Amino acid sequence: RPPPPPGPLEYGGVKLVNDADHPFIAPGPGDIRGPCPALNTLANHGYISRNGIESPSNIVHAAMEGFNMNNDLAKFTCYAAFVVNGNLVTDLVSIGEKSAKTGPDPLDQPATIGGLNTHNVFEGDSSMTRADFYDGGDVETFNETLFQGFLEYSYRFGGGRYNLTAAGEYRYKRTQDGIETNPTFTIVAPRLFSAYSESVNPINLWVDGRQDDGQLRLDHARSFFEAARFPDDFHRAARPMSADNEAVVLSIHPIEPGANIAGVNTYTVDRNAPKLNDKCGIFEYHVNHTLRTLYPNPTGDLLDAIRANIHYFYTSVQARGCSEIFPYGRF
Ligand code: HEM
Ligand code: MG
Repeated sequence: RPPPPPGPLEYGGVKLVNDADHPFIAPGPGDIRGPCPALNTLANHGYISRNGIESPSNIVHAAMEGFNMNNDLAKFTCYAAFVVNGNLVTDLVSIGEKSAKTGPDPLDQPATIGGLNTHNVFEGDSSMTRADFYDGGDVETFNETLFQGFLEYSYRFGGGRYNLTAAGEYRYKRTQDGIETNPTFTIVAPRLFSAYSESVNPINLWVDGRQDDGQLRLDHARSFFEAARFPDDFHRAARPMSADNEAVVLSIHPIEPGANIAGVNTYTVDRNAPKLNDKCGIFEYHVNHTLRTLYPNPTGDLLDAIRANIHYFYTSVQARGCSEIFPYGRF
């Protein structure tokens, strides 16, 4: 069975994370980077493997150590992405494209083990600085045109910083872009969760912990989104942070989970999909729909690994009082 994820950090306070032990080194030939600017940063500073192939437990540790993401959000994000994109038997995932370095794929399963850039199992539409899959297929490369929109909204609504007001307006803009130009636009679990979490992560986790005022400098935003590099002297958040204030961002322009169902401008709410505040529902939906479609009938080591990973994923919502589920039976 794969090792369990680590618990919370012993010291969860502010500290220098762009330190001598973690120098920025740009990725070399063969090193994989992907759609998450934070994981790219952790790889470029050696908090996770610089080749971009890592285990979920090490990714959870690095998200806590490097950014002070709290233990539950790190586990929720990491296991939600890992179970649908990683190799459950070798316990490795590519943070970008599919790679032979995650080991042999399990046979006879629809799962692609495609890495974090796989569209619509975790990665999804209306990213802030990456294009939609429909718009050319590249969901992971930093897009300067989109980033200019991010800057424009931060000037117009954030007074020159990226803050909750800018986040609410820019999230709405990216949703409208998708509805109006992408006939395949969809935002249901887990994308609903990740879209809002990613809107507030830069406010909660990329503001220097000594500053700690929820106002992200735009030169720092570019450093993370584009270069995947900690700013000089960067200190992580002052305390472990969850997706704090995602409900505030949602409330600025409320939207319910849904999709364009018959071309552009046909956004239709999916009444069966869990809403943003229903984390138990998002957990269950991801396991019962997305994961089971990828692995309808696993056996042997694969079955053991799936059961273990669902349990690790569950521990991220346990404190919310969610029920554990056993769609593949118990050990
Ligand atoms: C985006 C995975 C941790 C910040 C993404 C995406 C993936 C991902 C797959 C692409 C989704 C999309 O935009 O379509 C993960 C995993 C993590 C993790 C597995 C493990 C814990 C973090 C942390 C932060 C972060 C610690 C912040 C410090 C972001 C942001 C985006 C993003 C801001 C949005 C990029 C954009 O919209 O242009 N992440 N992430 N992530 N992630 Fe992460
Ligand atoms: Mg995306």
